[in-house]
Amino acid sequence: MSTTPKRVFYTISIIIFLTSFTAMLYYGYKTFYIKNEASIPDNYTYHFALIAEETENDYWRLIEQGAREAAEENNIFLEYVAPKRADNEQLLRLFDRLIAAKVDGIITQGIEGQRFVDLVHKSIERGIPVITIDTDVKSSERNAYVGTDNYYAGQLTGRTIIENTTGEQYVGIVTGRLDAINQQQRIEGLKEEIAPHPRIQIVATLESNITRIGATKATYELLKEHPEINVLVGTSSLDGIGMVTGLEEIAPNKEVYITAFDVLPRTLDLIRSNKIDATIAQYPVEMGKKSVKVMIELQEQVLLDNEFFTETRILEKNDVQQSSGETR
Ligand code: BGC
Repeated sequence: MSTTPKRVFYTISIIIFLTSFTAMLYYGYKTFYIKNEASIPDNYTYHFALIAEETENDYWRLIEQGAREAAEENNIFLEYVAPKRADNEQLLRLFDRLIAAKVDGIITQGIEGQRFVDLVHKSIERGIPVITIDTDVKSSERNAYVGTDNYYAGQLTGRTIIENTTGEQYVGIVTGRLDAINQQQRIEGLKEEIAPHPRIQIVATLESNITRIGATKATYELLKEHPEINVLVGTSSLDGIGMVTGLEEIAPNKEVYITAFDVLPRTLDLIRSNKIDATIAQYPVEMGKKSVKVMIELQEQVLLDNEFFTETRILEKNDVQQSSGETR
């Protein structure tokens, strides 16, 4: 090649390289948001990773908070990682990357499907213990589960409806994600609890995609399609908040019994102002702490127990004081 075409060739190659490199960085950042606020402790004992369902989610932030507290107390280097928005495919890729990075332990939300089961197997095979948190996958070889007994939590939802309503009840469910095991278990528990009470019927279930706006849209659709609905049940942490907005938009004067999930401050405010009747409290800070403690034990010994249920209970207006956060 003579000098001019050579120069053109090199310039084009450099431009192509720089463009793809920038795109890789940009899309890589958009896909995985890896958060590592805590500085790396000197001479840390272990390096654990916590994989959340999505980063900017108040419920998962509380799990992170608890996990960080336990990590600091025990000189653990903890990485909090998650897809930006809930996405199973991306969660699986993160999981695989952490196995390759040879961390000392992986604490992760459990997700549906054989690929998750296979990754747990791969991790255990390479000597990296796995704890499922918030959502269990019993069919996997995970060393332990830490979190709510989700089936029982669903039963509690049923109990509030049975105890606080009379006459025919038509239930519309707004659920986080139809493919999330914990959401399925909550709905199963609810069904089981109301089964002996034929006056209570579930008429339809829609997804919120674990967003407030999704819950508002789902509520709108439910009430439009099934105007007979007089009970709304939310099964993930932003559903109750979104359902109230949806109800106010479509039928502001309608009497609807509403149950939510979790104790985010906005949900508690809505209970205080009589817009939500009850919520099922989970204790995410406790889950985070416990998961790190169990992971430390797993580094040193074989555990006899492999299910660590954190507390779950019904909260109604009387239980909700002026404080917010993890109400007891
Ligand atoms: C569930 C989590 C979910 C969160 C969504 C919680 O109730 O336990 O699995 O990620 O709601 O905000």
